[in-house]
Amino acid sequence: VTLPDPVHPAWLPPEAFRAIGSRRTLVLGDGLLAGTVYDEVADACARHGGRVRRGAEDGPHDLVLALTTAEPLPGVAGEVRPGSAIGAEGYVLARRDGVTVVLADEPAGLLYGLFHVVRLGERAFAGERQAEHHRPAMRRRMLDHWDNVDIHPVMGQVERGYAGGSIFWRDGAPRGDLARVRAYGRLLAACGVNAISVNNVNVHATEAHLLTDRLGDVSALADVLRPYGIGVHLSVSFASPVVLGGLATADPLDEDVRKWWAGVTERVYDAIPDFGGYVVKADSEGQPGPFAYGRDHADGANLLAEALAPYGGVVHWRAFVYNHRQDWRDRSTDRARAAYDHFAPLDGRFRDNVILQVKHGPVDFQVREPVSPVIAAMPATRLAVELQVTQEYTGQQRHVCYLPPMWREVLGFRPWGPDGPSRPDGPDGPSGPDGSGGTAAVTVADVAGGALGDGDGDGDDGGGLVGVSNVGDDPYWTGHPLAQANLYAFGRLAWAPEMDPAAILDEWIDLTFAPATASGDAEPAETAETERLRRTLHAIMGGSWRTYERYTAPLGVGFMVRPGRHYGPDVDGYEYTPWGTYHFADRDGVGVDRTRATGTGFTGQYPPPWSQVYESLDQCPDELLLFFHHVPYGHVLHSGSTVIQHIYDTHFAGAEEAVEARRRWEEAAGLFDPSLHARVERLLDEQVRCAEEWRDQVNAYFFRKSGVPDLRGRRIP
Ligand code: GCU
Repeated sequence: VTLPDPVHPAWLPPEAFRAIGSRRTLVLGDGLLAGTVYDEVADACARHGGRVRRGAEDGPHDLVLALTTAEPLPGVAGEVRPGSAIGAEGYVLARRDGVTVVLADEPAGLLYGLFHVVRLGERAFAGERQAEHHRPAMRRRMLDHWDNVDIHPVMGQVERGYAGGSIFWRDGAPRGDLARVRAYGRLLAACGVNAISVNNVNVHATEAHLLTDRLGDVSALADVLRPYGIGVHLSVSFASPVVLGGLATADPLDEDVRKWWAGVTERVYDAIPDFGGYVVKADSEGQPGPFAYGRDHADGANLLAEALAPYGGVVHWRAFVYNHRQDWRDRSTDRARAAYDHFAPLDGRFRDNVILQVKHGPVDFQVREPVSPVIAAMPATRLAVELQVTQEYTGQQRHVCYLPPMWREVLGFRPWGPDGPSRPDGPDGPSGPDGSGGTAAVTVADVAGGALGDGDGDGDDGGGLVGVSNVGDDPYWTGHPLAQANLYAFGRLAWAPEMDPAAILDEWIDLTFAPATASGDAEPAETAETERLRRTLHAIMGGSWRTYERYTAPLGVGFMVRPGRHYGPDVDGYEYTPWGTYHFADRDGVGVDRTRATGTGFTGQYPPPWSQVYESLDQCPDELLLFFHHVPYGHVLHSGSTVIQHIYDTHFAGAEEAVEARRRWEEAAGLFDPSLHARVERLLDEQVRCAEEWRDQVNAYFFRKSGVPDLRGRRIP
């Protein structure tokens, strides 16, 4: 795969294939993806001096990648073939008698197995390895691109995009740079992503036409992504029958509307036989939806699901529905309540091929939110959990903010508490290699992976994990080069939600910064330099989410950002707007009372134990205190600090940590490619500036409100 210059290879530099490319490999199996596997190995061999055979058994081989259906399976491969099914996308990895074997039931499994061997590098070819069975915890591992075809007057080419333009679209047309799209598909396959939607959830006029007269643009993308096992989905407008079909209504119960969707969907599948399905944002932030016709969201979602069902397609229906025209004077309306209030009563009414896509928190991708109560409220609905890889509220890819520690907390959260229903068993899945599985209670990852389904083990009952993409046409893909790690980690966590974020960071570092040596060399020994590089990146990235939390909005209260743009501090920015996210700070205290006793009653949307834990001032975790409670500045946290002193301390500490990150990076100049180093250095300057601005505005605001001085006498402007 030749990358268009000067695009950065991200986690697939040619050196990452040295271990495979310098050896003798046999690929056994037919199908498009098996062909991809062969081509990948052949490419690596051309570079590193090894050789690859396909179908012909003229050994010896160091690596065998084979479908279990291949006959005959040579030597060791035959010996490690398991008696039971490996499962779609899964693979068995083993090493015996000097031969490394990857076996899969389906070609996709071979592809994922190949990339596992890439991650292992030389370790894949050392010693013996008992057969390990790997399969994804989630069958759907999807990225949503908020890319516009036309440049939107306010949001630009990519809504909330911080990495340049779209890799798919430019100025109203396809970019046509399919080499880049192909390279993208390859990166996604290597981290485990298997689906994308190619346009913004806010479907504007031009983008609506992707469904009909511009379908060819979508099918061209699908053709390029197919060899990497990436399915293509489309965001569609609920008003399509009106805006595209010329009907008088888009009423989901209207017979002509149903026929229109059936006909259009048939044509989509004629063009793209493996099309994934539709993504819909309805009745949300101005997008059309079923409410206009007096129908509910089950009616709306089922309409599209019915059209997709004959072809095996799904509709991702977003639960991000709330009133964005609130009156700030009205204290009873609480945006956090909205998704549950709209959707929980509909549980059981959605068709099987509807996936309700729920943002991980109840509000909107803040640096700290509780887990959405919707996740525990809809046992009879397929749920997908939506994360935001693009850093809208977490520094917009100018700040280092490695998000997996947050995602890990979300995915590992137990919606029914530690004594809730038990989780199922399965390799790489909920009871994965960390040994925690079997009897422990169901987690968010289990729900998304289908633990509450019919238990037939095919994973179909879970909606999976969806991430809002952080990719653009920037040479580093993600604007901030270190933000690549978030994209990589999203895929890895969707495959194996129990992975340790530090281990994922190590994988990403090893692949991305694989040291280049002459071809044919054995793996370069872990030098002092690579060790320093690794330590530097862990120091800067490992705790960067908490650092970001420290210098921005405190204790789970959220927002305090510049309205609209969402970058930089503005403590009262949303206090008197219709969007509904307030902190209610006055001279006595701060926070949102969401209790049942005296507040909006949001805590009552959780099942026990969380309904009690969050309701109780004593039990509520410090980091979420101001999300659930309005407290005096002198309220003492579990940490022993008062709320006001905590605000001062964390803001001073967070800004200092940003300065320290910049110092570490400057010190490490010689370890990185100079242009990458220079880009990150400039971004760290901006991060330090912005962190200090946050510190000073938040501290000054609360000092002026409360009149309480900093116990340590530091200067507050
Ligand atoms: C956020 C974001 C919007 C986006 C919306 C969504 O509110 O600011 O740009 O459209 O989320 O998820 O639909």
